[in-house]
Amino acid sequence: MLITTKRMLRAASLGGYAVGAFNVENAEMLRAVLEAAEEMEAPVIIQTTPGTLRYLPPEYFAGMLRTEHPSVPVALHLDHGSSFELAARCMEAGYTSVMIDGSALPYEENISLTSRVCARAQDYGIPVEAELGKVGGKEDDLDCADAQYTDPDQAADFVRRTGVDSLAVAIGTAHGFYKTEPKLDLERIKSIREKVDVPLVMHGASGVPEEKVRQAVKNGMTKVNFATELRAAFSQGVKEYLTEDSGVYDPKKYLSKGAEKVRELVKEKIRLCGSQGKAPDFVARAE
Ligand code: 13P
Repeated sequence: MLITTKRMLRAASLGGYAVGAFNVENAEMLRAVLEAAEEMEAPVIIQTTPGTLRYLPPEYFAGMLRTEHPSVPVALHLDHGSSFELAARCMEAGYTSVMIDGSALPYEENISLTSRVCARAQDYGIPVEAELGKVGGKEDDLDCADAQYTDPDQAADFVRRTGVDSLAVAIGTAHGFYKTEPKLDLERIKSIREKVDVPLVMHGASGVPEEKVRQAVKNGMTKVNFATELRAAFSQGVKEYLTEDSGVYDPKKYLSKGAEKVRELVKEKIRLCGSQGKAPDFVARAE
């Protein structure tokens, strides 16, 4: 069942767990996430970056999801939306959630861009995630060398003025793999939580020690994003297959091995977020 992240994150917030948001690059990864979610009876968010949408358009991912008829709640989300136009296109294509990332802009410009996207999203009944502060690291088109922690008071002002439905906050995580263990400011999540009443989103979760992710969820993160680890798992599966059978020429064979690795990893991440077994409960709560 394809639903919005608004319903999903509200249920997660009430239930004290987080929903895993998984970046996919192709049909195989999308199906692997769905299979993991169905096996774990968990709600999930499937998301695509602007870079991925240059590779395959939003209509492709929305169409695929419509034909899959997943038995668990699934949201299709634009991750790090880079423009009003791309967010609008995803809404039109059938996405059930969008992010507009104005975090690199000056504060007032971030407010103005986010407010414009929120106004358009209202016409579709689609929730919007925005970002305040700067999550560091590199992923697809994003390359942020000067990470900046989110200020709780500014977050409250931002949410009030934009009407955004969820907020990505910077607490020391970064996109991509870490060279050394990240220094996270987990207390900051509580301080932001006290001032902001929309769900908070943790970006850059690949490579963060499990205990830290659990603590972040406990302190108030309601959506946790995983991308790099999924890409690495998919590539590892394909490499292993090709190494074992270098004569293979049927893509279905080696791509399936990549998908299998993604499925196993997503199951682990669902457990880590505490969302396993929440699909039936969530449906009951949200209706
Ligand atoms: P990672 O690539 O570190 O998992 O970050 C994912 C993310 O935040 C996507 O927006």
